[in-house]
Amino acid sequence: MTITLSDGRKMPRLGLGTWPMDDEQARQAVTQAIPLGYRLIDTAASYGNEAGVGAAVADADVAREELFVTTKLRGSQHGYDAALRGFEESRARLGLDYVDLYLIHWPLPGRGLYADTWRAFVHLQEQGLARSIGVSNFTPEQIERLVEETGVWPAVNQVELHPGFAQRELLAWHAEHGIVTESWTPLGRGPKLFDEPAVAETAAAHGRTPAQVVLRWHLQLGAVPIPKSADPERMRQNLEVFDFSLTDDEMARISSLGGGRQGGDPETYVEL
Ligand SMILES: NC(=O)c1ccc[n+]([C@@H]2O[C@H](COP(=O)([O-])OP(=O)(O)OC[C@H]3O[C@@H](n4cnc5c(N)ncnc54)[C@H](OP(=O)(O)O)[C@@H]3O)[C@@H](O)[C@H]2O)c1
Repeated sequence: MTITLSDGRKMPRLGLGTWPMDDEQARQAVTQAIPLGYRLIDTAASYGNEAGVGAAVADADVAREELFVTTKLRGSQHGYDAALRGFEESRARLGLDYVDLYLIHWPLPGRGLYADTWRAFVHLQEQGLARSIGVSNFTPEQIERLVEETGVWPAVNQVELHPGFAQRELLAWHAEHGIVTESWTPLGRGPKLFDEPAVAETAAAHGRTPAQVVLRWHLQLGAVPIPKSADPERMRQNLEVFDFSLTDDEMARISSLGGGRQGGDPETYVEL
């Protein structure tokens, strides 16, 4: 299952997150995930596991073109020249000719360099080195600034999204502008969310696990979730979410849990 990005390329509808794995954990997890059917792998320079991801991709029995590898620029490499260097370093660690999706990890508005950084991303896409380009943790105002300065829209905005933080307005804005929403921390990092009656009761009604219900909720919102699991049984479970549907009432109930962010606020977060 894929979704078509605004640049015409296709992206898998669900992927594997790799934070906070180290190189060896990521190599093992990706090696296990690919035969299960995972095609989208999410990493970042700041995770310190690109080499592990790249080793698993190199050893996979699946052609490179069938895989979709996303990585992200670290905060200390914002700016045009620094971003180009950061990309080359990531590409070397991954051992890849090209990256499928390259994201600005955080906007870092205090540094004021994200538009220059985006110019470098546009260049990398023109060179074919980053097939698709996007952002992570950007607000609509920050995305509008990128477009004003370059005329190029990000294909993806990867943001914190889970039933406790449903981001309704942002999702509507993304849809209006043809931006695919990719959901980080899609399971809200686990157990507490799974015990919520809205999730647990819906899971029981469908004979599914709470994690499967939450991932299905993302798919029906039109988002691309990237659950992290290092456990092959949970990885398999997290992929088996394309053969059932939640009702409108179930979707609304799960969307109204509340609770708020678990991660950083894009306006203030400082990532190095
Ligand atoms: N762009 C950004 O700024 C940003 C920020 C944070 C994260 N991310 C990306 O998003 C990915 C996912 O986010 P996340 O790791 O924070 O949170 P998450 O995917 O919501 O939750 C991961 C936790 O859930 C557990 N889990 C996974 N599947 C399960 C299942 N079926 N049943 C029960 N427990 C399950 C995992 O444990 P096991 O491993 O033991 O299964 C792990 O403890 C990251 O790995 C990273 O790639 C991006």
